[in-house]
Amino acid sequence: MGRFRFSGGSPTATYRQPDRPGSTLRRARWVAFLSTLGLALAVLVFAVQNWASRAQARKLKNPYPPSEEALKAGTEMYTEHCQSCHGRLGDGKGEKAAELSIAPGDFTDRAKMDRLSDGELYWQISKGRRPMPAFASKLSEQQRWQVVDYIRTFEKPQGSVIGTP
Ligand code: HEC
Repeated sequence: MGRFRFSGGSPTATYRQPDRPGSTLRRARWVAFLSTLGLALAVLVFAVQNWASRAQARKLKNPYPPSEEALKAGTEMYTEHCQSCHGRLGDGKGEKAAELSIAPGDFTDRAKMDRLSDGELYWQISKGRRPMPAFASKLSEQQRWQVVDYIRTFEKPQGSVIGTP
């Protein structure tokens, strides 16, 4: 900081100009500090809100549980909007998958799918996450729940289920 202080000067100087550059710099530092603080706060608020809305979504009850009708609609939605990335079998190997920066989710992963509630899947589909687009404005609520029903059908039974309880 000492670098920026103009002290003294010649004894003949009658006024002190030196204050100005220093105070401009102080102001600039304040602005920088405040905007960093503001940004940090915004990020924090966003993170907390995001977390809270996800926690709330987890508890949402699926108003359109799997039925023949829901699954039929879900299949159509999936084929049109999801299959190119998530694949026909829901294994994340759609034709577009290779060119994405992040691999699309694999819905045949039973352990993962069991951890996620219908509400969370609904929330993820609604919000999207790059490179996956958000579907909140593209599909109606009903359509998003129906596609949740449908992606649940990709789960492969773990090991041999036949004959075991
Ligand atoms: C442009 C390609 C693309 C499209 C189209 C797309 N997704 Fe995704 N999806 C992704 C990617 C990539 C991820 C992983 C994102 C991550 O992990 O950050 C993902 C993640 C998910 C997840 C989170 C769970 C998991 O397995 O990671 C769900 C649920 C999901 N997608 C459902 C859908 C549904 C349903 C549709 C159609 C309505 C759809 N996606 C369309 C690329 C896509």
